[in-house]
Amino acid sequence: MLALLSAMPDEITAVVESLGKVSTQTLGRRQYQVGSFRGEQLVAVFSGWGKVAAAATATQLITTFGATRMVFTGVAGAVQDGLAIGDVVIGTELIQHDMDASPIFPRYEVPLLGRALLGTDSGLRARLRAAAEGFLREDLRRSVSQSSRDWFHIESPRVIEGVIASGDQFIDSAAEIAALRHSLPQVTCVEMEGAAVAQVCEEYAVPFGVVRTISDAADESAPHDFARFAREVAGQYSFGILSHFLRER
Ligand code: ADE
Repeated sequence: MLALLSAMPDEITAVVESLGKVSTQTLGRRQYQVGSFRGEQLVAVFSGWGKVAAAATATQLITTFGATRMVFTGVAGAVQDGLAIGDVVIGTELIQHDMDASPIFPRYEVPLLGRALLGTDSGLRARLRAAAEGFLREDLRRSVSQSSRDWFHIESPRVIEGVIASGDQFIDSAAEIAALRHSLPQVTCVEMEGAAVAQVCEEYAVPFGVVRTISDAADESAPHDFARFAREVAGQYSFGILSHFLRER
């Protein structure tokens, strides 16, 4: 069973609409939609926002729905210099940037897991990368309006692989980004759920892949850009990337 987890409620809608024979189960205020796509059994759900919501959803996907692979889509704020709105990050490793149990454990280390960086599955990563590149090459112009592309200056977006940081914080100031860059120089982008799902997948030995589209620069313009990107662009990216992901297996 492949689990599709989305950090944006609308991102999953279009994917679910393309599934054959969907049944919905509501648990913990979340709607799990079960169906199949080209013979592959799928369960799709909105993760909720923040690490606790996402971890609870991921756990339910594994323990109730029998998820054996998990793919997480969503948006993120750019941290790495040069990363622009509309670029796509495939997560290599994830870290909880607000984890600090020092001096009992080293800063960022997940207590009792013995590690700060949580990995992703290389097979899912390769598939997600090919899917994101396929979407940008073949479908971007058709699926995202010219006015949205112009507004966000999305011209030739890139796909990169890198470390994703997660924390229970919406980052919206240049000072916060500078602090993050200083303490975690390997981080490419920041969001609020991925590392929590990575931890659950690690603990249950479920292969995990994550793809994040850059929606904002995590600075003072972030709240406005995030809202507009979520409304106009995020769903098209996720649907496009997931469609390629499911098709090109
Ligand atoms: N998700 C998208 N943009 C974000 C930001 N600036 N901070 C945290 N999570 C985000």
